[in-house]
Amino acid sequence: MREVLRIGLPKGRVLAETCSLFGEAGLDLGDIEKPTRRLIHEVETLQFGRFEVLILRAKDVPAYVEHGVCAFGVAGYDTLVEQRPNVLQPLDLAFGRCRVAIAHRVGVDPWRIEKPRIATKFPRIAGDYFLSRGTPAQIVELSGAIEIAPLVGLADAIVDIVETGETLRKNGLTEGETIFEVSARLIFNRASLRLHMDRLRGIQEALVGALAARSGGQTSS
Ligand code: PRP
Repeated sequence: MREVLRIGLPKGRVLAETCSLFGEAGLDLGDIEKPTRRLIHEVETLQFGRFEVLILRAKDVPAYVEHGVCAFGVAGYDTLVEQRPNVLQPLDLAFGRCRVAIAHRVGVDPWRIEKPRIATKFPRIAGDYFLSRGTPAQIVELSGAIEIAPLVGLADAIVDIVETGETLRKNGLTEGETIFEVSARLIFNRASLRLHMDRLRGIQEALVGALAARSGGQTSS
C-alpha cells in the first residue's frame, strides 16, 4: 500500500475552489470544506492513494511544506512572495485571483510624502516596493482589517489584497498601483518530490489536465 501523503490547504475562501479543482483532477477530498472544527482529514482516492489533509491558516501553509510535514500544498502567490519559502512552485492553479495593491484616502498621495507610513500584512513586499521606487517607507505591520489604518491616522496608505474592491469602496479608500497579480499556486516540498516523484508529478499532470478542461483547451504536456 502506498504511503499516506500529507497535504496542507488554506482554510477560508480558497478551500472550496481547491476542493473543486482537485476533485476534477481525480483527487476527491470529500466534504473537507464543510465548516467544522475538525482540522485533519483522512482521504482515500482511487487514482492517487491515501492522504491526510491539514486545514491551515493560509500564511502557515508554506512553513508546513518547506519543513516537509506536508508533501505538497496550496498557497497564495502573495504569501509566497512575502515569505520566500524554500519550496517548489510547479503550477499556477488560476483561482484565488486578486492583486496586491496600494490604497489610500482620497486626496492623500503617499508618493508625495517624504517617508510615508504604510500599514500592511506584507511588510517585505511593501518595504521593497516603496524602496524600489526611491521612497523609503515606514512599515506598520498589522494582521487584518488593514483598511482602518489610514482612516484613523495610523498610516498614510496601505498595501493589501484587493479582490472585488468592495472593502476599499465601503471604507472610502482609493486604489492606487497594483504591485502584482495573485493566484493560488501548487507547492511541493523538495525532498518529497524526489521521494514520491511519480505520485506528485501524476497529481500535477492531473491538475494541468483539469485546468485545461476548464478552459476548453488541450493539455500542453
Ligand atoms: C482581504 C483583504 C481585504 C479584502 C479585499 O481581507 O485584506 O480586506 O480581503 O477583498 P475585496 O476587494 O473583495 O473587498 P480578508 O477578508 O482576507 O480578511 P482580513 O482583513 O482579516 O485579512
